[in-house]
Amino acid sequence: MKKIAILASGSGSNAENIIRFFQNHPAILVDSVWTNKANAFVLERAERLNIEAHVFTKNELALTNHLLNEFKSRKIDLIVLAGFLLLLPQKFVREFQVVNIHPALLPSYGGKGMYGEHVHSAVIANKEKQSGITIHLVDEVYDHGKILFQASCTIDPMDTPQDLAGKIHELEMEHFPRVIERLLLGSA
Ligand code: GAR
Repeated sequence: MKKIAILASGSGSNAENIIRFFQNHPAILVDSVWTNKANAFVLERAERLNIEAHVFTKNELALTNHLLNEFKSRKIDLIVLAGFLLLLPQKFVREFQVVNIHPALLPSYGGKGMYGEHVHSAVIANKEKQSGITIHLVDEVYDHGKILFQASCTIDPMDTPQDLAGKIHELEMEHFPRVIERLLLGSA
């Protein structure tokens, strides 16, 4: 079995979708969910889906090896960032394969502060005609690693950031688990 650890900071709709996709999968298992927010909705989703979940602090992540050692002892094959809003320290990228989803077409609309609604508001403010999702490996530079997959959607002139968020959400639900599956099973 290949094992996934999911890191998430917010609602966790991607985390839930990934967990559901891999329930009863013959070769891939979601081992656990990890969040830096004690009140993140992802914790409720994990509990409902019977997946072990843990809360950690920013300092624990950056200044100790607690998480790193947990992932090593659990023999995690892939760390999935699913709406994880802290910078992942370099030590993780050196030890593990890490994949992230970004709600725009990188290299546009990436970088620090560009997450969730902020991305969609910036895209709409610039009157872009399309946006999309980028699924990429995480390296030591923010929003920079090898792009594994992109999918785009069109933006209508009257679309609000919320409308765009809905379109992006659909793309994320459709593609993220499948890209993870291909990555882990060696065909990405
Ligand atoms: C997702 O849209 C994801 O692409 C985005 O956060 C959202 C999390 O939603 N990630 C980033 O913006 C990373 N820079 P969720 O908690 O419902 O999965």
